[in-house]
Amino acid sequence: MKGIILAGGLGTRLYPLTKITNKHLLPVYDMPMIYYPITTLVKAGIKDIMVVTGGNNAGDFLRLLGNGKEFGLKRLHYAYQEGEGGIAQALSLAEEFAEGKSITVILGDNIFSGTVKKAVDGFSKVNSGAKIFLKEVAEPQRFGVPEISGGKIIKIEEKPKKPRSKYAVVGLYMYDNSVFDIIKGLKPSGRNELEITDVNNHYIQRGMMEYEVLAGWWTDAGTIESLYKANELVKKMRKKA
Ligand code: DAU
Repeated sequence: MKGIILAGGLGTRLYPLTKITNKHLLPVYDMPMIYYPITTLVKAGIKDIMVVTGGNNAGDFLRLLGNGKEFGLKRLHYAYQEGEGGIAQALSLAEEFAEGKSITVILGDNIFSGTVKKAVDGFSKVNSGAKIFLKEVAEPQRFGVPEISGGKIIKIEEKPKKPRSKYAVVGLYMYDNSVFDIIKGLKPSGRNELEITDVNNHYIQRGMMEYEVLAGWWTDAGTIESLYKANELVKKMRKKA
């Protein structure tokens, strides 16, 4: 399966840290943030990877990552997102790269302690619909939050004021190739973005969405607080290893 890392956007919640660089190039403990999603994909057996980035510092990704040799890759593919049209808009830039097949998508500011290899292998066999991961969090209102009934997700709400569960939808998604047609039909949200939550709700409405609760710790690193927490979590993990 091919993998896509979404590392565009302007990172305004980390300003001024992101005034002269891209969020995903900032350090998380001992590595640049972008190393973590690449490693998560590689550990899941995904070696054909596209990085979608944007902003003024796109060239720095090439200088840092090159062809991905450090990660055991033969080459890395790149796409450039103009502006900040949302996660789903960034994903749409990978349509040709996907070549009609299923994909695993990871957000460039999401850090996972464990591996999702089993789920990726399982999805490669099924090859239709979509799969997401949930994690119990202290502040669900910061994330996409599922409403679950009878063991099924009936809807996901993006940053709800009154969350309907204690779970966040984490930033790792598996989709069949119909995801690109779904994105073409999306309308921009209130914050003028094409939302990944709207994509996921399409699959839910069609009864084509699977989920599992993620093992191990997970965090995003897109706010000052979560970036700080990510540093601490990685530090602890390195000390244990
Ligand atoms: O971290 C998980 C959460 O990520 C999910 O629970 C939410 O449902 C999902 O919408 C997303 O929420 P955020 O508001 O935290 O997303 P953010 O705008 O920080 O974007 C996350 C990553 O997606 C970012 O590091 C790079 C990529 N991105 C984002 C935007 C807006 C792009 O590549 N292009 C974009 O235009």
